[in-house]
Parts: sequence; C-alpha cells; structure tokens
Amino acid sequence: MAQLTGSNKVKTAVFISGKGSNLKSLIKFSLTKNSPISIDFIISNNSKAKGLIYSNIFKIKKKVFSFKDQKLSESKVLYILKKNNIKLICLAGFMKIISKNFIRKFKGKILNIHPSLLPKYKGLNTHKRALKNKEKYSGCTVHFVNFKLDSGKIILQKKIKIKKNETENSLAKKVLSQEHKLYPKAILKIFNLQRKS
Ligand code: GAR
Repeated sequence: MAQLTGSNKVKTAVFISGKGSNLKSLIKFSLTKNSPISIDFIISNNSKAKGLIYSNIFKIKKKVFSFKDQKLSESKVLYILKKNNIKLICLAGFMKIISKNFIRKFKGKILNIHPSLLPKYKGLNTHKRALKNKEKYSGCTVHFVNFKLDSGKIILQKKIKIKKNETENSLAKKVLSQEHKLYPKAILKIFNLQRKS
C-alpha cells in the first residue's frame, strides 16, 4: 500500500462542543503514517469548549460559531470548509443537530460517534437510560450521518459489559475510552485499511 503523506491525506474537520477527548484521539491517529485523514480544521458551537485547546497544541485552525442562527452559522461553516478543501467531517461530541441542507452538501461524508449501541438510546442521556433499563451491555457506535438523528448506517460498534455497581460516571468513562479506539478504527474501515498497532 502506498504510504499516505500529509499532502494526500483526506482533509478532515472535527466538530466539537465540549472536552474534545475524541478530537484528541483523532488528531493523534491522524498523525500516524497509517491514517488516511489529516485533521485540518476544528469547528465548535461553544467558545468555552475545552477541546479548543487542541487547536493551539497541534496548530490546527479553528472557528467558533454560536449556531444561534443555525442557517447563518452553517452557511459560514460551509464556506470555510470549502475554502479549506475539507472533504470529511467527524462529529465528536458536537451537541447541535445539523440541518438537512448541510448534510446534503456533505452527503456520505459526515461521521458521528455516539455513546450507545445504536439503534438503542439515540439522543441524550444514553448512560442514564441504559442503567435505568438495567441493560447488561452498552457501548459506542460510529455511524454515517443521515437526515434522522443517530440513525445513519453503522460503521462499527464496540460492546462493553455493564457491571452490577456501575454508575453513570463509571459507565461514561468506560465507554469514552472505547470511543477513542473505535473512531480511528471506523475511519480505517471506511477507507478499507487496517490498523497497525
Ligand atoms: C462522547 O461520549 C460522545 O460519544 C458524545 O459526547 C461525548 C464527547 O466527549 N456524543 C454525543 O452524545 C452525541 N450525541 P469528548 O468531547 O471528550 O469527545
């Protein structure tokens, strides 16, 4: 297989709203030789998102848009992505629902990670609901984004066991650490590559 270098990797933007631990894992992955993508832009709807720090640490461009006027913010985001030749979008803890119009413009090129075994527990408070329903297993899912919330084609899932004394916090932590491995693996899968590690 030809080695992927910075110049021929697929330019990718990561959208975040909070801590950005998935962003960090995607950046680290993108810097490996085996990665088909480079992270070239970070977009956030939250100027206080902790994950924006990775823009400084890894010298990646960033922009924050309030998304209060969603149509306006999305058109600015689209302009920036186009200008920067972005071909793939990874949603990573981005807590805004993007519009059909936006999705149409990046059809089949938007991925999302969700902290449940979809189709179970779409939307928010996944861990709380899984515990309340006394589920034996939970996990995370990487999927393509389509017009219906958390309903696009599943790329990969990781299942984890829920312990008897599990709390929302301990479950969130366990799932998140799996997310960090699953997102890169899912990206390799869509590019038909295998992880070397
Ligand atoms: C992750 O658990 C991600 O799956 C979830 O938010 C967290 C973000 O963590 N996303 C959603 O719930 C989307 N509906 P991070 O900011 O540390 O990557």
